[in-house]
This record gives sequence, C-alpha cells and structure tokens, in this order.
Amino acid sequence: MVSEVIDRCPTGIVGFDDLCKGGFVRNSDNLIVGGPGSGKTTFLLQFLWRGATQYNENGLYCSFEPDIIDTLNDAMAYGWDFSKLSAEGKIKFMRFSPQTSIDELKKELTKMIAQNDIKRICFDPISVLALNFSDQGKIRQTIFELSSLMKRLKVTTVFVDESLEGDMGNAKDGDWTKTDILRFLSDSVTVFYETGIAGVGDRAVRISKMRRTAHERRAIGMEIRDTGIEIARVVMAQGVVPNQ
Ligand SMILES: Nc1ncnc2c1ncn2[C@@H]1O[C@H](COP(=O)(O)OP(=O)(O)O)[C@@H](O)[C@H]1O
Ligand SMILES: [Mg+2]
Repeated sequence: MVSEVIDRCPTGIVGFDDLCKGGFVRNSDNLIVGGPGSGKTTFLLQFLWRGATQYNENGLYCSFEPDIIDTLNDAMAYGWDFSKLSAEGKIKFMRFSPQTSIDELKKELTKMIAQNDIKRICFDPISVLALNFSDQGKIRQTIFELSSLMKRLKVTTVFVDESLEGDMGNAKDGDWTKTDILRFLSDSVTVFYETGIAGVGDRAVRISKMRRTAHERRAIGMEIRDTGIEIARVVMAQGVVPNQ
C-alpha cells in the first residue's frame, strides 16, 4: 500500500508536534478549546512566533478582544517581541469588532493574506464572533465560509473556542455552547485543561481529533513557563502492528 505523504505545518512546540506526526496538516483548520487561563492565546502566539523565526512562515493574528495591546504585552513577557517581526511584515495583528460582517472579514483577510504572503492565521477567540448569531445554522455557515476561504488562500488556520466544558465527553444534551458545532467542522480539535488542583503539573493537552493523522489520544502534561508552553515529550502509544 502506498501511503500519501502528508505535508505538515509544524507548530514548533516540539512536545505538541511529537503528538501528531510533526504538526498540523498544512492548509487545514484547527480548533483549540479550553477554559480561561488554559494557555490558548499563548499557544497561538508561540505558533506564530516559531513559524516566523524557525520556519520562515509569515503569520496573522486576528483578535476579537477589545485590547490587542494586552496580547502584545503578554507575548513580550514570554520574550517574543513581535514589534520587529511586525515592522518587517512577517507577523501582522488585526483587531476586529465582534460585529464585523462575514463579507467585511473576508475582504480584509484576503487583502492582508495576499499582501503579506501569510501562511499561518489565528482567530482568538472565534466564539466572540458567534455572539452575533442566535442560531447554530448561521454560526456554522459563517465559520464554514471563513475556513473555506482560508483553505483556498492556502493558509493553516487555528481557531480558539472558549469553553468551560473542557471535553465533549462530559457534555450532556442541552449543555452545548453555541460554538461546540465547530468541533464537528474543524479538521482537528485540541483541548487544553487547567484544573488548578494538583499544583504545577495540573495542565494538560489532548488532541481529540486530527484528520489524516494517527495522533496520540492521551492527555499529556503541559506547563506554561517564562519561555512559553512546554509539553512533555512522550513516546506515542503504539497500535497493533498488522502482520506483514
Ligand atoms: N511566566 C509564566 N509562568 C507560568 N505561567 C504563566 C506565565 N505567564 C502566564 N502564565 C499562565 O498562563 C495563563 C495565561 O494563558 P493564556 O494563554 O492567556 O490563556 P487563555 O488564552 O486560555 O485564557 C495565565 O493565567 C498564567 O496561569
Ligand atoms: Mg486568551
């Protein structure tokens, strides 16, 4: 059997790339889910920073939060001074109001991606955009339009969804948030846990799905340090090897 070689977009977070055969599938859309302080924004900033500094790939960070300066200050605290990369056109930051229409968003992003040869794009948090809509059908349509455009423009996308639920396995009927639908649409879903109970070792990350990838399925220990996210390096659990 000839297996297709999948082109990967390494996050540059070594412990994470180990879990998924070297990184996200290139040009896919990926969802990061987690509660407050679980490390979602840090992951995005690190993905963009490493993308530009280690893989020479330009990135775009799109924020729906009121103050993007806070995010830049957070990055600076990890030692990632984006101002130089930004001046060189390697990493761009855009702030959108949650009321921005999908057509406006698509127009602005298309222009920005073409002008700056963007290869990696992050939306933080996409759940804010969903506040505009009362029904899941409209949310689904909007996210679908956005991620289809990103695929056409050949960028690798990471969406952040704010969720207290943590893992879908705990959700009961009626517990779903408006953006849980994104977990079905996305090519990959990674959940960040922050239990706050067991001290420094309380953080964990779990890839719950990643298309075209034999990924690790266990929750793996993670830490946030002065230099950003570190994920424990593990030997992946092996499946049954068929007879040759
Ligand atoms: N230098 C550091 N050392 C250890 N933990 C840190 C450091 N800087 C930030 N953190 C942790 O990271 C959290 C912020 O993570 P963030 O990526 O903003 O989370 P989210 O976007 O999921 O809300 C803080 O609440 C804190 O717990
Ligand atoms: Mg955040």
